[in-house]
Amino acid sequence: MKQKIILGISSSIAAYKACDLARLLTKDGYDVFCVLTENATHLVAPLTLQTLTGNPVYTTSFAIQWREMGHIELKENAALLLVAPATANIIGKFANGIADDLLSTTFLAVDCPVVIAPAMNPNMWKHKAVQENIKKLKEWGCIFVEPETGLVACGDEGQGRLASIEEIYKVAINAIK
Ligand SMILES: Cc1cc2nc3c(=O)[nH]c(=O)nc-3n(C[C@H](O)[C@H](O)[C@H](O)COP(=O)(O)O)c2cc1C
Repeated sequence: MKQKIILGISSSIAAYKACDLARLLTKDGYDVFCVLTENATHLVAPLTLQTLTGNPVYTTSFAIQWREMGHIELKENAALLLVAPATANIIGKFANGIADDLLSTTFLAVDCPVVIAPAMNPNMWKHKAVQENIKKLKEWGCIFVEPETGLVACGDEGQGRLASIEEIYKVAINAIK
Protein backbone atom coordinates (compact mmCIF):
# COMPACT_ATOMS: atom_id res chain seq x y z
CA MET A 1 0.00 0.00 0.00
CA LYS A 2 1.20 3.52 -0.81
CA GLN A 3 2.39 5.63 2.12
CA LYS A 4 0.27 8.67 2.82
CA ILE A 5 1.90 12.08 3.08
CA ILE A 6 0.00 15.19 4.15
CA LEU A 7 1.64 18.14 2.41
CA GLY A 8 0.80 21.37 4.25
CA ILE A 9 1.29 24.56 2.24
CA SER A 10 1.09 27.99 3.83
CA SER A 11 1.18 31.41 2.23
CA SER A 12 4.85 32.05 1.59
CA ILE A 13 5.80 33.38 -1.83
CA ALA A 14 7.67 30.05 -2.15
CA ALA A 15 4.31 28.18 -2.21
CA TYR A 16 4.63 27.60 -5.96
CA LYS A 17 7.66 25.38 -5.25
CA ALA A 18 5.37 22.99 -3.37
CA CYS A 19 4.02 21.94 -6.78
CA ASP A 20 7.39 20.40 -7.66
CA LEU A 21 7.56 18.71 -4.26
CA ALA A 22 4.05 17.28 -4.67
CA ARG A 23 4.91 16.04 -8.16
CA LEU A 24 8.16 14.42 -7.05
CA LEU A 25 6.58 12.65 -4.08
CA THR A 26 3.67 11.42 -6.23
CA LYS A 27 6.02 10.22 -8.98
CA ASP A 28 7.96 8.23 -6.40
CA GLY A 29 4.86 6.38 -5.25
CA TYR A 30 3.62 8.36 -2.25
CA ASP A 31 -0.05 9.15 -1.79
CA VAL A 32 0.04 12.93 -1.34
CA PHE A 33 -2.83 14.93 0.15
CA CYS A 34 -2.31 18.70 0.05
CA VAL A 35 -3.73 20.98 2.73
CA LEU A 36 -3.50 24.67 1.88
CA THR A 37 -4.12 27.50 4.28
CA GLU A 38 -6.76 29.85 2.97
CA ASN A 39 -4.08 32.48 2.31
CA ALA A 40 -1.98 29.99 0.34
CA THR A 41 -4.80 29.63 -2.19
CA HIS A 42 -3.95 33.17 -3.35
CA LEU A 43 -0.43 32.02 -4.26
CA VAL A 44 -0.90 28.52 -5.67
CA ALA A 45 -3.97 27.00 -7.30
CA PRO A 46 -5.54 23.99 -5.55
CA LEU A 47 -6.44 22.58 -8.98
CA THR A 48 -2.74 22.48 -9.92
CA LEU A 49 -1.93 20.42 -6.84
CA GLN A 50 -4.98 18.21 -7.33
CA THR A 51 -3.89 17.47 -10.88
CA LEU A 52 -0.29 16.76 -9.85
CA THR A 53 -1.21 14.45 -6.95
CA GLY A 54 -4.39 12.86 -8.29
CA ASN A 55 -5.99 13.45 -4.88
CA PRO A 56 -8.44 16.02 -3.56
CA VAL A 57 -6.88 19.20 -2.18
CA TYR A 58 -8.19 20.58 1.10
CA THR A 59 -8.41 24.19 2.19
CA THR A 60 -11.03 24.20 4.94
CA SER A 61 -12.41 22.08 7.76
CA PHE A 62 -15.91 23.24 6.99
CA ALA A 63 -16.72 21.53 3.72
CA ILE A 64 -19.36 18.92 2.97
CA GLN A 65 -16.79 16.82 1.10
CA TRP A 66 -15.51 15.39 4.40
CA ARG A 67 -16.81 11.97 5.50
CA GLU A 68 -15.87 12.82 9.08
CA MET A 69 -14.03 15.79 10.62
CA GLY A 70 -11.33 16.82 8.16
CA HIS A 71 -8.36 16.73 10.50
CA ILE A 72 -9.40 13.27 11.75
CA GLU A 73 -9.89 11.89 8.24
CA LEU A 74 -6.53 13.31 7.17
CA LYS A 75 -4.53 11.95 10.09
CA GLU A 76 -5.71 8.37 9.53
CA ASN A 77 -2.77 6.23 8.30
CA ALA A 78 -0.61 9.29 7.64
CA ALA A 79 3.09 8.41 7.45
CA LEU A 80 4.22 12.04 7.50
CA LEU A 81 3.06 15.62 7.86
CA LEU A 82 5.33 17.75 5.70
CA VAL A 83 4.81 21.52 5.82
CA ALA A 84 6.56 23.29 2.94
CA PRO A 85 6.70 26.20 2.80
CA ALA A 86 5.93 27.08 6.43
CA THR A 87 5.21 30.75 7.20
CA ALA A 88 6.18 32.48 10.43
CA ASN A 89 2.46 32.51 11.16
CA ILE A 90 1.85 28.75 10.83
CA ILE A 91 4.99 28.01 12.87
CA GLY A 92 3.65 30.33 15.56
CA LYS A 93 0.30 28.58 15.56
CA PHE A 94 1.89 25.12 15.77
CA ALA A 95 4.13 26.20 18.67
CA ASN A 96 1.22 27.65 20.62
CA GLY A 97 -1.44 25.03 20.09
CA ILE A 98 -3.63 27.32 18.02
CA ALA A 99 -5.99 25.26 15.88
CA ASP A 100 -8.07 27.77 13.95
CA ASP A 101 -7.75 26.31 10.46
CA LEU A 102 -7.43 22.87 8.86
CA LEU A 103 -3.62 22.79 8.73
CA SER A 104 -3.02 23.90 12.33
CA THR A 105 -5.75 21.55 13.58
CA THR A 106 -4.24 18.66 11.62
CA PHE A 107 -0.84 19.40 13.20
CA LEU A 108 -2.34 18.77 16.63
CA ALA A 109 -4.21 15.67 15.47
CA VAL A 110 -1.46 13.67 13.74
CA ASP A 111 0.71 11.06 15.44
CA CYS A 112 3.21 10.71 12.58
CA PRO A 113 6.58 12.50 12.13
CA VAL A 114 6.37 16.21 11.27
CA VAL A 115 8.84 17.90 8.93
CA ILE A 116 8.73 21.68 8.58
CA ALA A 117 10.49 23.73 5.88
CA PRO A 118 10.22 27.45 6.72
CA ALA A 119 10.50 30.29 4.21
CA MET A 120 10.37 33.96 5.08
CA ASN A 121 12.11 37.32 4.99
CA PRO A 122 15.50 37.20 6.81
CA ASN A 123 14.36 39.66 9.51
CA MET A 124 11.31 37.52 10.16
CA TRP A 125 13.51 34.41 10.33
CA LYS A 126 15.87 36.07 12.84
CA HIS A 127 13.05 37.38 15.03
CA LYS A 128 13.09 36.03 18.57
CA ALA A 129 9.41 35.12 18.34
CA VAL A 130 10.06 32.86 15.35
CA GLN A 131 13.26 31.37 16.77
CA GLU A 132 11.62 30.65 20.14
CA ASN A 133 8.71 28.93 18.39
CA ILE A 134 11.10 26.80 16.34
CA LYS A 135 13.07 25.86 19.46
CA LYS A 136 9.89 24.70 21.13
CA LEU A 137 8.78 22.68 18.11
CA LYS A 138 12.21 21.02 17.85
CA GLU A 139 11.98 20.05 21.51
CA TRP A 140 8.64 18.45 20.70
CA GLY A 141 10.26 16.35 17.97
CA CYS A 142 9.48 18.33 14.83
CA ILE A 143 12.21 18.10 12.20
CA PHE A 144 13.22 21.35 10.47
CA VAL A 145 14.72 21.83 7.04
CA GLU A 146 16.60 25.10 7.56
CA PRO A 147 16.07 27.83 4.99
CA GLU A 148 18.96 28.77 2.74
CA THR A 149 20.95 32.00 2.82
CA GLY A 150 20.89 34.29 -0.21
CA LEU A 151 18.62 36.67 -2.05
CA VAL A 152 14.94 36.30 -1.10
CA ALA A 153 11.95 37.21 -3.26
CA CYS A 154 11.48 40.68 -1.73
CA GLY A 155 15.07 41.62 -2.66
CA ASP A 156 16.57 41.35 0.84
CA GLU A 157 19.56 39.13 1.53
CA GLY A 158 20.08 36.69 4.36
CA GLN A 159 18.71 33.41 5.65
CA GLY A 160 15.07 32.71 4.82
CA ARG A 161 14.85 31.24 1.33
CA LEU A 162 13.06 27.88 1.20
CA ALA A 163 15.53 24.97 1.19
CA SER A 164 15.86 23.18 -2.14
CA ILE A 165 13.10 20.75 -3.06
CA GLU A 166 15.74 17.97 -3.24
CA GLU A 167 16.83 18.69 0.34
CA ILE A 168 13.26 18.84 1.64
CA TYR A 169 12.45 15.60 -0.18
CA LYS A 170 15.50 13.84 1.32
CA VAL A 171 14.71 14.92 4.90
CA ALA A 172 11.02 14.06 4.47
CA ILE A 173 11.64 10.54 3.20
CA ASN A 174 14.23 9.86 5.92
CA ALA A 175 11.70 10.96 8.55
CA ILE A 176 9.27 8.27 7.41
CA LYS A 177 11.78 5.42 7.68
C1 LIG B 1 2.91 37.86 -1.65
C2 LIG B 1 3.16 37.48 -0.20
C3 LIG B 1 4.22 36.70 0.12
C4 LIG B 1 4.47 36.32 1.44
N1 LIG B 1 5.54 35.54 1.73
C5 LIG B 1 5.75 35.15 3.00
C6 LIG B 1 6.84 34.28 3.32
O1 LIG B 1 7.64 33.89 2.47
N2 LIG B 1 6.96 33.85 4.60
C7 LIG B 1 6.10 34.26 5.60
O2 LIG B 1 6.28 33.84 6.75
N3 LIG B 1 5.08 35.10 5.33
C8 LIG B 1 4.87 35.53 4.07
N4 LIG B 1 3.82 36.36 3.79
C9 LIG B 1 2.92 36.77 4.88
C10 LIG B 1 1.91 35.67 5.17
O3 LIG B 1 1.20 35.36 3.99
C11 LIG B 1 0.96 36.13 6.28
O4 LIG B 1 1.65 36.19 7.52
C12 LIG B 1 -0.26 35.24 6.40
O5 LIG B 1 -1.13 35.75 7.39
C13 LIG B 1 0.13 33.80 6.76
O6 LIG B 1 -1.03 32.99 6.68
P1 LIG B 1 -0.93 31.38 6.69
O7 LIG B 1 0.18 31.02 7.62
O8 LIG B 1 -2.26 30.97 7.20
O9 LIG B 1 -0.72 30.93 5.29
C14 LIG B 1 3.59 36.76 2.47
C15 LIG B 1 2.51 37.57 2.14
C16 LIG B 1 2.30 37.94 0.82
C17 LIG B 1 1.13 38.83 0.50
